[in-house]
Amino acid sequence: MLKLLMLIGFALQSVAGWTATQTPFTPNVYLGSALAKQPNETRGQKLFQQYCVQCHQVGAVGLAAQNIPALAGQHSDYLIKQVVDFLDQERVNTTMHQQLVRSGLNNATSIADVVGYVANLPINSAPQYGSGKQLEQGKQIYEGFCASCHGQRAEGNGDLWVPNLRGQHYGYLLEQMLSMATAQRTNVSDDLHRMFTTYTESEFVVVADYLSRWQPD
Ligand code: HEC
Ligand code: HEC
Repeated sequence: MLKLLMLIGFALQSVAGWTATQTPFTPNVYLGSALAKQPNETRGQKLFQQYCVQCHQVGAVGLAAQNIPALAGQHSDYLIKQVVDFLDQERVNTTMHQQLVRSGLNNATSIADVVGYVANLPINSAPQYGSGKQLEQGKQIYEGFCASCHGQRAEGNGDLWVPNLRGQHYGYLLEQMLSMATAQRTNVSDDLHRMFTTYTESEFVVVADYLSRWQPD
């Protein structure tokens, strides 16, 4: 029900945007329909091998050296939202946008299939870590200001599109926090952006390090 309300919210936002500018827009047709589809994971695995593995790596564990995130075990609804946001350029990343547009993945069935495959892979157990300094401060920040949404064990909340943060590379976590703080990552709410502006880079460093060391259950 909550999700339905959020979807209606998305739709209203789009309509409001259109009314304000009177320019044509591409309605976000994929999000709702991709979320509703039952994934075919066998097909998803083939799509992953064809279009994603060269960057996201075998097992979808990501590639720390290039800040390519792990996708394995992430909530499927969150992943679908990110893919749709890359397609719509709500989340601006040229690499991902070009991959998704060019590859023939640009339809709800393929998005649901490839996401269904990676979401069911085991979470990466060996992500890149930070320096290991001041982990206690990272823990305090996380428990005080992040756990209310991301969960006591950083497991996220699939129903609310809150990502799992376990098994993710330190450098990628840090980069995303910085880009949410500077509003370069545009697909997050204003409230979330404002919250991230209240931290210094060294606070992001310690919380990213703390999170990256969290072993999956
Ligand atoms: C050429 C390399 C490349 C290929 C191929 C690629 N990706 Fe990515 N992907 C990236 C990079 C780099 C990022 C980080 C983008 C950013 O910084 O915002 C990313 C981010 C993502 C994210 C966001 C994860 C998160 O935690 O928010 C998803 C989902 C994703 N990719 C899915 C896919 C899928 C599915 C495919 C195959 C259809 C694919 N990618 C192919 C490089 C690639
Ligand atoms: C009000 C709820 C909320 C709070 C509090 C919150 N987050 Fe998030 N966070 C989210 C949501 C929702 C997203 C996904 C946004 C989107 O749709 O792309 C997110 C995304 C992220 C991402 C990007 C993950 C990825 O795979 O790309 C990181 C990293 C992150 N949060 C870390 C934190 C940290 C660290 C804190 C505490 C300082 C925090 N968050 C506090 C809700 C929250």
